[in-house]
Amino acid sequence: MLQVSQLNQYYGSSHTLRGVSLSLEKGQCLALLGRNGVGKTTLLKCLMGVLPAASGQVRLGGRDITKLRPHERAALGIAYVPQGREIFARLSVEENLMMGMATKPGRKASTIRGEVYELFPVLKDMLQRRGGDLSGGQQQQLAIARALLADPQLIILDEPTEGIQPSIIKDIGRVIRLLRERGDIAILLCEQYFDFAHELADEFIVLSRGEVVASGSQKDMAHENVKRHLAV
Ligand SMILES: Nc1ncnc2c1ncn2[C@@H]1O[C@H](COP(=O)(O)OP(=O)(O)OP(=O)(O)O)[C@@H](O)[C@H]1O
Ligand SMILES: [Mg+2]
Repeated sequence: MLQVSQLNQYYGSSHTLRGVSLSLEKGQCLALLGRNGVGKTTLLKCLMGVLPAASGQVRLGGRDITKLRPHERAALGIAYVPQGREIFARLSVEENLMMGMATKPGRKASTIRGEVYELFPVLKDMLQRRGGDLSGGQQQQLAIARALLADPQLIILDEPTEGIQPSIIKDIGRVIRLLRERGDIAILLCEQYFDFAHELADEFIVLSRGEVVASGSQKDMAHENVKRHLAV
């Protein structure tokens, strides 16, 4: 589904991503781990096309998308839930959800799929509320729901548990597990909350100073060699 090879990126003279490679299959969840400032968000932005990569290749379903713009990648089925959520604070919950269907012109609010409300029941009771008036955890759920309405093949989640209360973290974990079990989507989960990622991932990679320093399958994730690169 997703193949990244030898990706390099710079902010000015600082070499932020150093030859990053990874791959992710449909139906799988890949955890992207690493301490603060190692380049996780930068990598995700390069995958979405928000930032250009200096060199390297990104392929989605076999197609080279390295030079495509973010909206073109969205149309091909990549959905991105940014760190800090970035919902539209002044728009209603319903309008925020409709933004998720922007790649499907002509859709109306009535076509917001019931499935979204099944995954996130709290949103159904808050459709007319302003996004900015939701709690942080509710905003995170809204951001994930909005991403799912684009029918993605790949969903990219940047630290979905950051600053969120435990009960909502549980709800978000349940949704990610359901998506994974459904098997028709690839999930790239960037996390610093190790136990959360450990429960959900099939595979993992660890970044340190822009480089992949460890990777493997879930059963190797709790190994010393991995944990020493993390803030746990
Ligand atoms: N727009 C920018 N211009 C210059 N440097 C940047 C920019 N954005 C990020 N950086 C730097 O690049 C490095 C990687 O940042 P990035 O946000 O990718 O890290 P991260 O792993 O997502 O961290 P966190 O876990 O805190 O979110 C950091 O040293 C950061 O200060
Ligand atoms: Mg980040």
